[in-house]
Amino acid sequence: MAATDLRGRDFITLMDFDREEIETILDTAFDLKRKWIRGEPHKVLEDKTLFMLFYNRSLRTRNSFEAGMTQLGGHAHFLEPDAVYTPALPGEEQAYATERIADVARVLAEMGHGIAIRIYGKPTGWIYGKGRLNILEFAKWSRVPVINMEDDVDHPCQGLADIMTILEKLGHHLQGKKFVMSWAYSGSVEKPLAVPHGAMMAAAFFGMDITLAHPKGLDLDPQILQFAQKTTKRYGGDFRIVHDMDAAFKDAVVVYPKSWTCQATDGKTPMDPQKSKAIFEANKHWLTTKQKMELTDGALYMHCLPADRGMEVTDEVIDGPHSVIVEQAANRLHAQKGLMALIMG
Ligand code: CP
Repeated sequence: MAATDLRGRDFITLMDFDREEIETILDTAFDLKRKWIRGEPHKVLEDKTLFMLFYNRSLRTRNSFEAGMTQLGGHAHFLEPDAVYTPALPGEEQAYATERIADVARVLAEMGHGIAIRIYGKPTGWIYGKGRLNILEFAKWSRVPVINMEDDVDHPCQGLADIMTILEKLGHHLQGKKFVMSWAYSGSVEKPLAVPHGAMMAAAFFGMDITLAHPKGLDLDPQILQFAQKTTKRYGGDFRIVHDMDAAFKDAVVVYPKSWTCQATDGKTPMDPQKSKAIFEANKHWLTTKQKMELTDGALYMHCLPADRGMEVTDEVIDGPHSVIVEQAANRLHAQKGLMALIMG
């Protein structure tokens, strides 16, 4: 794998990176993972601080960043926006309740070495792209790297962990192998598009044969799809969209079925919960079962978690022999350590 200097870079979307850079992050992640397993010290970020601003809840992201910074010799601060005056875009401030992102970003950048942010869904009024605008505003003002811990467009750290897991399980020759990103039913429509976007872009860097499967009306962002299609073709893969879960699963080596909401991607129209609910309820059969897994070529079952058991997937599949959900979650730690070591080092 190649080596690239990424010091000082923001990590907001996989679209900002090329394959050589992604490989450098993964290479570093694998190296640090080996060191961690062997108990070898790897405090490459000694005395450094990451500030983490969470507008949404988290189990995996928060704990993998916190544990990761500790293992690298530094520290991660957990900040809830309400406890730090909610950072706001220009024009969105409410007197005494908020302060501008410009000020928050510049102050935190003087005290630490990275700022990580999670913002999507309810805090943005479910307007696609508004979470991203907040993160870009942080990046505009911060002189230290800004990391996207999931916005409404991408979950790039999850994408890194996803492809790291696939590489570990299937080896490095992924070109032309069938990767299925499928919608799955959920009882909640509050599901951002970020994970399917990030997972497909990550698979595209390795030339996987990507099949995107979803019921009609659950389209993803055309810009992301174009990027995934162009990137995977460049590396010898292919890209198609189907509206049938069984057809998609046939001969797959990786299946990644999860829910996402019905949402306009124009940056203006808020998600309509009633409209989403109607599409969701008409598609309850988009459930990952043992019978569907038998259509695959012994595929890995992937999910970013938390999963809606009994709706997105049966217990038999998620707890079964093809499921790699725990390894995938664990790789959040290692992938992000690789990333932080390079951009904050
Ligand atoms: N996959 C993921 O981002 O999990 P959390 O929402 O728990 O952080």
